[in-house]
Amino acid sequence: QSIENGTVTWESPSNIALVKYWGKKKDQIPENPSISFTLNICKTITNLTFTQKERDNDFSFEIFLDEEKKDDFKPKIETFFKRVEVYLPFLKDFHFQIETSNTFPHSSGIASSASGMSALALCLMSLERSLSVVEVTDEYFNQKASFLARLGSGSASRSIEGDLIVWGKTDVIEGSSNLLATKYPYQVHEKFKDYQDTILLVDKGEKQVSSTVGHNLMHNHPYAQNRFQQAHDNLNALKLILESGDLDKFIALIESEALTLHAMMMTSMPYFILMKPNTLEIINKIWDFRKDTGLHVGFTLDAGANVHVLYPKKEAKVILEFIKDELVAYCQNEQYICDQIGFGAKLI
Ligand code: PMV
Repeated sequence: QSIENGTVTWESPSNIALVKYWGKKKDQIPENPSISFTLNICKTITNLTFTQKERDNDFSFEIFLDEEKKDDFKPKIETFFKRVEVYLPFLKDFHFQIETSNTFPHSSGIASSASGMSALALCLMSLERSLSVVEVTDEYFNQKASFLARLGSGSASRSIEGDLIVWGKTDVIEGSSNLLATKYPYQVHEKFKDYQDTILLVDKGEKQVSSTVGHNLMHNHPYAQNRFQQAHDNLNALKLILESGDLDKFIALIESEALTLHAMMMTSMPYFILMKPNTLEIINKIWDFRKDTGLHVGFTLDAGANVHVLYPKKEAKVILEFIKDELVAYCQNEQYICDQIGFGAKLI
């Protein structure tokens, strides 16, 4: 079999969870199911160049971020390669040059692990496809890409496709799996089809707690079992909301999920507060605005201080004015990103 040298480029989006994944078992198996909106603007673009080499016992790769060599990313990629090697047995036959860049500002506090790991998984799948002697279907391609991305970073499994994605086994969603993420299989109300996510960059500093440490803190956490059950319950409830289009219930559910995620960190040992004073200022402003106007603006949070402001496109004009007039002042250097629901990764 002749193996060609070559290069492949994928761009893969970030995603924002509505029901959060927090806590995992061995082999990147989530403790509870999660569901996310795939984003559209926040993406990682990864170019993988592969050159055949003599097979030996080592992985051989270099990694560049924005054209700068990044040796500090190497351990994470090495761990990823080790985990996926059994599924991609050709890895040690190649030297890889991984060139990556993000559309969002570097160290903006927006996690690039979901978009970055999914982009790399997709590039490796393209290589597998070019080596394969049998036809690789798109379905197999996407499923295995999600499976591999999960082994890099759990939430990355949800970044292959759009627009609503489920990861983690639950009886109420057909086809759901702990091993890979799948498209939400049911009809959703049109209100959710063009949802907007304006990301307010409150704090761009390094994360205080890596997600690996964070997930581990759930192991001996006094509220863990209740939290995992709550995620199941919230997913059941969300299924009805997505069908009915009840935005008030939607907002209540996602805000509660966001605050619960942070509550888990505040009540673990050691404990962390990942919100900043400006995070709370923004949350209070959103609540006041919602009360005054009756508009459907809500928030969610990742494991950090930034705020994702979620709202339907139909109400975007007034809400965006409110964001610019009243919320952007709380952002670091007034930075924010206007994103919206997206439809998944693309081969470039
Ligand atoms: O994918 P990880 O291991 O970085 O975990 C991220 C978990 C959250 O972003 C906090 C929640 C989620 O479901 O995306």
